[in-house]
Amino acid sequence: MTDFSSHNPDWWRQAVVYQVYPRSFADADGDGLGDLRGVTDRLPHLAALGVDALWLSPFYPSELADGGYDVADYRDVDPRLGTLADFDALAAEAHRLGLKVIVDLVPNHTSHQHVWFQEALAAGPGSPARDRYVFRDGRGPSGELPPTDWQSVFGGSAWQRVPDGQWYLHLFTREQPDLNWDHEEVREDFRTTLRFWSDRGVDGFRVDVAHALAKDLADPLRDLGDPELSGEQALVHLPPGTHPFYDRDEVHEIYRDWRRVLDSYTPPRTAVAEAWVPGARRALYARPDELNQAFNFEYLQASWNAEQIRAVIADSLATARAVGASATWVLSNHDVVRHASRLMLPPGTDQNAWLLSDGRAPHVDEPAGLRRARAATLLMLALPGSSYVYQGEELGLPEVADLPVEVLQDPLWEQTGRASKGRDGCRVPLPWTTTGPSYGFGAAGAWLPQPPYFARYAVQAQDGVEGSTLELYRTALRLRRKLLEGEELTWALETPPGVLSFARCDGWRCVTNLSDTPVPLPPGEVLLSSAPLAGDGRLAPDTTAWLA
Ligand code: NOJ
Repeated sequence: MTDFSSHNPDWWRQAVVYQVYPRSFADADGDGLGDLRGVTDRLPHLAALGVDALWLSPFYPSELADGGYDVADYRDVDPRLGTLADFDALAAEAHRLGLKVIVDLVPNHTSHQHVWFQEALAAGPGSPARDRYVFRDGRGPSGELPPTDWQSVFGGSAWQRVPDGQWYLHLFTREQPDLNWDHEEVREDFRTTLRFWSDRGVDGFRVDVAHALAKDLADPLRDLGDPELSGEQALVHLPPGTHPFYDRDEVHEIYRDWRRVLDSYTPPRTAVAEAWVPGARRALYARPDELNQAFNFEYLQASWNAEQIRAVIADSLATARAVGASATWVLSNHDVVRHASRLMLPPGTDQNAWLLSDGRAPHVDEPAGLRRARAATLLMLALPGSSYVYQGEELGLPEVADLPVEVLQDPLWEQTGRASKGRDGCRVPLPWTTTGPSYGFGAAGAWLPQPPYFARYAVQAQDGVEGSTLELYRTALRLRRKLLEGEELTWALETPPGVLSFARCDGWRCVTNLSDTPVPLPPGEVLLSSAPLAGDGRLAPDTTAWLA
């Protein structure tokens, strides 16, 4: 059995980590925004669910230009979300309940409200304060053109001009200026931040845009030639390590430096890279002398197709193993369409267009989506490695695809010229109760409107209800803890088309039927299934079963 005790330095290798998006989780002070006390109050939910750790998305001072990923102070709590004392209380209670705590670190950019950026603006061109960021003169006769053709991930030029005529780089919104990681003061400050939270007892860090920190800033900066090459998707078309700002080889030196800080704690603090980088290159961030893990988004991007999923699993296991890391699995997070809806979209669906149609074109059958989501989850939880579960997926929440555009808060909406509704549909505050203001989220309502059908998905509607999605997660996580042994997976030799079947330790076997006809199950006792078996005991379509 895997040892999740607080002293096991390898606890993360097969952990189930629950992502809390604080402003949408629970609102204790009734101001409409989730907060840290709300998280602490609801920790018993996570303990009863049976996860090993929680990861808190940013709760630092921020004007929320990008949902908190625009950090004004890395070593404090946003007053609307609480205080450092509230954080300490949260961490203490989590640890008392046997839950590890992971916090989000956003090192690629600060908020424009950060004291460093304010200093940089005041200090003017050529000043040391500007050198902590990426300021350059523009091109054109009077510098009126951006220094390069680099594009922001959220649309438009990645450069913003300031009143004195210089431009600064922002790979995300203009409220998120990129830091200059060639600057020793920047490096030292992040070491201080790692120590600050490690000293407060956090067990690990999730590293935002981990692949963008190192940039080729040699002057003159070079154009990409084709603005399309600004996207992470471009990495597959370029020789590895040659993109001016993504996945450069020098970035690894930063994480080796961080590892020395993380390893100075007992047990060593862990970290997971958010790096949208293809397979083997992504695994480099997870090397033992770097961060330990890197999110594997290929699983999340796979269609509901047995061959594709099998290939992604095999590849992810092999690439993680090659560097001595454990694999990671993600189906949903705060940036993507929730998998209860996404898995029903035909392969190749333009998800922006689907959201712009308010989820009507194509129509997603809600019960069918939930059925697939449950099957995908049981499959994920049987895989070697760790699983990252996003708040609300244990309730089977679908994407709220029909949010009216007037309520949208994601900067993507405006920055893409209203071509993308953005990510608010997976950030709608959680329903805890079947009635009451904001379904138990908080006394003042929710900052994004919850649809009436959220009542059916509320924790209260599912707690103790046999067959509910919440009970499925609880049972699966309980069983998983008991069954877990080793990190091996052995594929069954012969399986019907559209079926994935593999064995883990001690005869634990997982079978998923992605075809549209029932299939026979291998011999053994069925421990759990994501949907009832067919009348004749066969595994129905879109169902996963665990056997022993
Ligand atoms: C990735 C985060 O998950 C996302 O929410 C954010 O917008 C970008 N990084 C920029 O920080």
